[in-house]
Amino acid sequence: MNVTNYEELNLQLRGLIEGVPHRIANLSNASALLWQSMENLNWAGFYLMKDGILVLGPFQGKPACIEIKLGRGVCGTAAAEDKTQLVPDVHAFPGHIACDCASRSEIVVPIHAGGEVTAVLDIDSPLPDRFSEEDRKGLEAFVRILEAEWEKMS
Ligand code: SME
Repeated sequence: MNVTNYEELNLQLRGLIEGVPHRIANLSNASALLWQSMENLNWAGFYLMKDGILVLGPFQGKPACIEIKLGRGVCGTAAAEDKTQLVPDVHAFPGHIACDCASRSEIVVPIHAGGEVTAVLDIDSPLPDRFSEEDRKGLEAFVRILEAEWEKMS
């Protein structure tokens, strides 16, 4: 349980987005792929950097907060520190933003373009301690695939 086959998942992501020049379409399919492939999630999607603020992008799950300032919450911390945040207990994370009160654990991975953080991938689970080091590695590889296509999409 909770074990994702990242080799398979990341192969599927490549198949879905490579050669497709539409960012919103690709991020929508990427969030749907995560939602279908990973167990015990209650939110999976993207926040996109716009004028120094993270703005809600394509996702699966309940409606979520629209803007997140840099340094705020798990997403804003991942973007400000340019570092993956693996949070086993969101209640213990200072400043966690509760969009869906079902969330108990969370992982956020920064996405880069031109050497800057341009977005973050955010995944939430209703289970405490849902995400492992394997998930971190697999999702960082997932994000590298998006980054390789990023500049070709608009
Ligand atoms: N929990 C996030 C906010 C986004 S929702 O989880 C979708 C945070 O603290 O940044």
